[in-house]
Amino acid sequence: MAGNWKMYKTPAETTAFFEKFRPLVEKSEHCEIVICPPFTSLVAAVDAAKNRVRPIGPAGSVSAAVAAAVDATKGTRIRIGAQNIGWAKEGAFTGEISGPMIVAVGATYAIVGHSERRQYFNETDETVLKRTQAALEFGLTPIVCVGERLEERECGNTDAVLVGQCHKGIFGLTGQQFAKIAIAYEPVWAIGTGKTATPEIAADAHRTIRGQVREKFGKEAADAIRILYGGSVKPDNARTLMAQPEIDGVLVGGASLDPVGFASIVNF
Ligand code: PGA
Repeated sequence: MAGNWKMYKTPAETTAFFEKFRPLVEKSEHCEIVICPPFTSLVAAVDAAKNRVRPIGPAGSVSAAVAAAVDATKGTRIRIGAQNIGWAKEGAFTGEISGPMIVAVGATYAIVGHSERRQYFNETDETVLKRTQAALEFGLTPIVCVGERLEERECGNTDAVLVGQCHKGIFGLTGQQFAKIAIAYEPVWAIGTGKTATPEIAADAHRTIRGQVREKFGKEAADAIRILYGGSVKPDNARTLMAQPEIDGVLVGGASLDPVGFASIVNF
């Protein structure tokens, strides 16, 4: 059950969220809980989730980053993720944040290829693959997003779009790498619009994706891959979505900003 805060919440607002959220999910052991705040609130989130342990080794070194990642499994069960990740380890890439930087602050997940990145910031399947590979290289769990736009669905192209995004993007991973990712199916027309895909529509798309995974990586990989649904998930529809066996979890935007609301989604 993952929350994507998008461009919301300062460090102080992040701390305040966790004060309320933590006790509400203290006993929630049926799922992994991941919160993805903006980069500038990652430290506050890791601290508030009590995942933080000081990195060992010279600051910024990969060994320090890996040590921090290992230690980030301590504390509460809430894990923290970034909303994007640069594909290089470091370098002249103004505005980018690298895997080792994310790991060094104690985050353990990274969303990759969110439709807002694809739509407004020219993210492509090729860069999605590179960012996913970077996340894996530095020990982060990538949550890789795919999904069709409204006009693509209306033309009957949903399956073709999903298949294309998989083949040009994440199917460039090795089988071993693929086993470590999660996929989020997020129909673009359902994001932030209040129009949730019906559980059946979502499950259909998940079946398409899983079928492709089966062809490419085999049955075991298809059974094991976690596919989350995202797009206007709210406290009142989480349960019917999660009732679909194809839906392994949810990626929640707007409704993850409210601690009580997101806790009720987690505890659907
Ligand atoms: P939403 O966003 O829940 O606000 O529709 C979902 C997402 O973009 O991950």
